[in-house]
Amino acid sequence: MEDQSLVLEPKVVAFCCTYCAYTAADLAGAMRLEYPPNVRVVQILCTGKVEVQWLLRAFEQGADAVYVAGCALGDCHFLEGNLQALRTVGYAKRLLAEVGLEPERLEFFHIPASAGLQFAERARQMTERARQLGPNPLRINRGLLEERKIALPPDPHPPLPPAQLGRIIRDQQNG
Ligand code: FES
Repeated sequence: MEDQSLVLEPKVVAFCCTYCAYTAADLAGAMRLEYPPNVRVVQILCTGKVEVQWLLRAFEQGADAVYVAGCALGDCHFLEGNLQALRTVGYAKRLLAEVGLEPERLEFFHIPASAGLQFAERARQMTERARQLGPNPLRINRGLLEERKIALPPDPHPPLPPAQLGRIIRDQQNG
């Protein structure tokens, strides 16, 4: 029987450029379109600002899927930000594969400002994909750690307790 404690709702992070995808997210809300609450939208100025570290950090912090959503080709307000983002996402996908995470957990989408429907559809698509891929292994470990269902091996070099550290400093000063 499946251990219910390991069945987790997917967490999806969406980095959305303010001029297109974020506006589309707003529109989806105004149109009362339903999309999964699993998606956390992060508003950014332009997808060209997205750094590989942001994407990797999102996975490290437990996201099951991440996507970057920006303007349509030729519509970026900073000219080539979305092209830069495509390259960044492609590079991050290769890094994910190298550390053993499925590259499909990361995606780039062009979502125009007027495409509320498309925003909702992409949110559903990535949530469903995260569900099919299963929880990010980093997240499971983190979750189990937080719930104290697993324990890390003892640190071979634990920090010194403050009192002991004080004594060592005093001994050095006196000696
Ligand atoms: Fe939207 Fe650059 S302003 S991707």
